[in-house]
Amino acid sequence: MPGIPLRNGGPAARIAVIPGDGIGAEVTPQAVKVLKAVAVPAKRALEFVEFDWSADKYLREGVTLPAGAVEMLRDEFDAILFGALGDPRVPSNQHAADILLGLRFQLDLYVNARPVELLHDRLTPLRDRTEKDIRLMVFRENTEGLYVGIGGNFKKDTPDEIAIQEDMNSRKGVERIIRYAFEYARKNGLKRVCMSDKSNAMTFAHGLWQRVFKAVRQEYADVDSRHLYIDTLAMELVRDPRQFDVIVTCNLFGDIISDLGAQLAGGLGLAPSGNIHPGKTSLFEPVHGSAPNIAGKGIANPLGSVLTSAMMLEFLGWTAEAAALRVAVRAALHENYVTPDLGGEKKTTEVGDWIAARAAKIASTSS
Ligand code: NAD
Ligand code: IPM
Ligand code: MN
Repeated sequence: MPGIPLRNGGPAARIAVIPGDGIGAEVTPQAVKVLKAVAVPAKRALEFVEFDWSADKYLREGVTLPAGAVEMLRDEFDAILFGALGDPRVPSNQHAADILLGLRFQLDLYVNARPVELLHDRLTPLRDRTEKDIRLMVFRENTEGLYVGIGGNFKKDTPDEIAIQEDMNSRKGVERIIRYAFEYARKNGLKRVCMSDKSNAMTFAHGLWQRVFKAVRQEYADVDSRHLYIDTLAMELVRDPRQFDVIVTCNLFGDIISDLGAQLAGGLGLAPSGNIHPGKTSLFEPVHGSAPNIAGKGIANPLGSVLTSAMMLEFLGWTAEAAALRVAVRAALHENYVTPDLGGEKKTTEVGDWIAARAAKIASTSS
């Protein structure tokens, strides 16, 4: 996606790799293989350092995000390539909260960019929609909202139990993500920004979103801006996705709407994302989770992680290599060299090998 601000732009970059749990550990090595394959003909250096932070480590050692990890990632790496966290053996999801949400919060990765792009007509479940109809960007606020973990239980595990989870929204946090969405639209010549909230029910928290949106949109008279309540947005996205170029919303709604968007474009196996703080170490991950239902079978779709890697390369300023990855993914979809979720019969590693070879070839002819 053009318009994602650069971190590095130089001929070498250091990438921290956190494969995580389940299919995260299956798809991430495929993406690393593809990245290595395009770096060679491009004569650029990518250094990968892998970290085994996962449910296994948590269950073995009681460690989630090790002490000093945030500072190390911030100071020694340009980007983080992340798989997924989540394991049925950790019902509290404590390790994911500490590692994934911990990195989003502590690295202040306030932009969660989740593009929805249909790469082959046959992949959308919507009747009569084609590639040109489904191409939009969801910007999810990524450091606040219902995710901050403020709350608690009173009289836990009794019939009188009370559970409270606070929705924390700061003016600074709301303003920076809304402003980012407008800037992105302007830089990319996109005409329409839609802010979505639930201010009719959540009058305090989302009343703030309303007020900030009204103020910020004044500065972007060249962009058409509108507001939809989140329930209506969900409906409109399915009814007619052509209406949308850029959507900006809060943390929880962005989580939900990005899965809906992923399905419009072929499913979670294809959906990429970037957790970004412009100019600082940022984290790139597929939208999907650890998929325990298919983990260990070797059939997870690695293309979401490959497209995620393309976003990461763009963030690093490697636009030609990013384009090579995208062209290779499109080719795999057109030639139906895909995993079962997309109707094929290829294995995760077969698709990874195919994309690596194709992307290297494209990169060598374009360099
Ligand atoms: P999920 O995304 O793991 O899976 C949802 C469905 O999509 C499953 O049927 C799965 O098989 C399918 N799917 C997902 N990715 C796929 C791929 N690459 N190829 C083929 N099929 C794919 O969501 P879930 O089942 O709700 O969650 C499982 C675990 O993952 C939970 O612990 C959850 O908290 C965690 N999770 C983690 C992240 C993350 O680390 N960023 C994101 C979402 C969910
Ligand atoms: C995602 C995931 C996470 C989220 C979970 C694992 C906490 O669903 O990255 O979309 O809700 O942000
Ligand atoms: Mn999610």
